[in-house]
Amino acid sequence: MTTTDGWPVLIIDDEQDIREVTALTLVDAGYRVETAADGAEGLARCEQFAPRIVITDIRMPGMDGIQVLETIKQRFPDTEVIVATAFGEMETAVRALQLDASDFITKPIHTEALMVALERARHRYATRQQLKDYTRHLEKGLSRTTRQLEETVAFQDRLIESSMDGILGCDGSGKVITFNRSMEQMLGFDRAEVLHRATLERFFSQVEFRRFQEDLAASGHGGPNRLMLYETCLLDHRRQPVPMQLSAVVLMEGDQPAGTVCFFRDLRRIHRLEQEMADQARLLHQDKMMSLGRLAASVAHEINNPLAGILNYIRLMLRTMKKGPLPPDKHAQFAGYLALVETETDRCSKIVSSLLTFSRRSPVSVGPVSITEILDRSIVLARHRLELGNVNLATRIANHLPDIRGDANQLQQCLLNLIFNAVDAMPDGGTLTLSAASEPNPNTVVIQVTDTGHGIHEKDMRHLFEPFYTTKQEGHGIGLGLSTTYGIIDRHGGSLTAASQPGRETIFEIRLPVQASISTSPGDAA
Ligand SMILES: Nc1ncnc2c1ncn2[C@@H]1O[C@H](COP(=O)(O)OP(=O)(O)OP(=O)(O)O)[C@@H](O)[C@H]1O
Ligand SMILES: [Mg+2]
Repeated sequence: MTTTDGWPVLIIDDEQDIREVTALTLVDAGYRVETAADGAEGLARCEQFAPRIVITDIRMPGMDGIQVLETIKQRFPDTEVIVATAFGEMETAVRALQLDASDFITKPIHTEALMVALERARHRYATRQQLKDYTRHLEKGLSRTTRQLEETVAFQDRLIESSMDGILGCDGSGKVITFNRSMEQMLGFDRAEVLHRATLERFFSQVEFRRFQEDLAASGHGGPNRLMLYETCLLDHRRQPVPMQLSAVVLMEGDQPAGTVCFFRDLRRIHRLEQEMADQARLLHQDKMMSLGRLAASVAHEINNPLAGILNYIRLMLRTMKKGPLPPDKHAQFAGYLALVETETDRCSKIVSSLLTFSRRSPVSVGPVSITEILDRSIVLARHRLELGNVNLATRIANHLPDIRGDANQLQQCLLNLIFNAVDAMPDGGTLTLSAASEPNPNTVVIQVTDTGHGIHEKDMRHLFEPFYTTKQEGHGIGLGLSTTYGIIDRHGGSLTAASQPGRETIFEIRLPVQASISTSPGDAA
């Protein structure tokens, strides 16, 4: 039990003797005591002294003890009140207990009874305080838990709301109970029209919903009651199909299904990109086929000349041999003819193999590319075209150019496109200069194709790299060369720029990073 030390006790009694004697007794027992001569004074003392226990007489002039008890219980509910009744006032005592007095003692006050009553009042007081502390503690814990719970729920709500994927949740009966913003955006619904109203079935065609249910129950897509990366089609608010990738899981409570959660990803953008990539690849291929067409004509000429030479030498040698055994003085002459045949054959074979390399419908093949090699091959392939067009070729190709990483075939296509454009720009002949050099920081190979042709006007400059932009007469160009070249160089992490002084010269410059790697998107059809 708590000690009596310093416990504040107020005694309210209209009889001075009783007040004093009781006070003395209590002070002796270790209490801190104050007294009041009537109810009103007693209440005023309660205000200032804040007694934990009040002992009040019942019969007093003015406010009686029952009123004092009632008022104290209202205003200072923690205070314990002991009432002192005259012997035989059982009814009053019962009334006092009903009003939550902690005890009653009869007058004349018996010290022992008073001490017992005080002891009980202290016990009640202490217990009530403990209870209060405990309740406060519980309330604090409860409010903390509630706050944590609220925070968790709010966080989860935000998570669901801000997810890029559409999230749709249904209860056990199939009713939609979660429908996040992405879902609204993808399907054009307002969630108010959907939540607790629509069922999952609403978002599928009949056939698709049946397939979805069967596959969800089966184990072929990530296990029973699960679907992973499953392609399906939803219906938007106009019942238009929207291709989706879906992951779904049936939520279980024990062994009973309690709902389904579905995550959707809109495939329209991906399909569009795939289409764009296919289109790009088609354009790339188309451009290449065009280049090939032109090349074929020029290569046929290019091969025809050496072949005619070879044929001449062989015929000459055959004629000589028909006349009889080869006289020794002819040996050296024949060796000379054969050397020429060898050189010419070699030239033909180089042209043919360059054309073959270029024309091969090869997948994107990334590897080290020697710029010197592809420049040489381009020259071999374009030579006849240059000769026909009265174009002189000048080369300024640095020694020991570093290899770059990329697709040789595609880069070759770029150079041929630029060379053909240059030749087209010099209908009356001119000079084509091919130069290549490397630059440090960042490690780059710079290739320039320069011509002395008619040049490019300012108004055409900004359209140059647009697909199908051409200034050439019908049948002479479709405007794919530069856009294709731009795409290829861009995927190699490089840049393609043009500069022109109309009437004087035009320079196309390709810059390729030495360490860069090509992004293998489209072009595998090229
Ligand atoms: N070296 C150049 N000098 C002047 N104009 C050029 C030069 N290179 C390109 N152009 C201009 O840029 C346009 C687009 O070139 P691009 O190579 O894309 O298409 P094209 O040559 O017209 O047709 P394609 O290459 O598909 O046969 C050309 O029509 C031409 O007007
Ligand atoms: Mg072109």
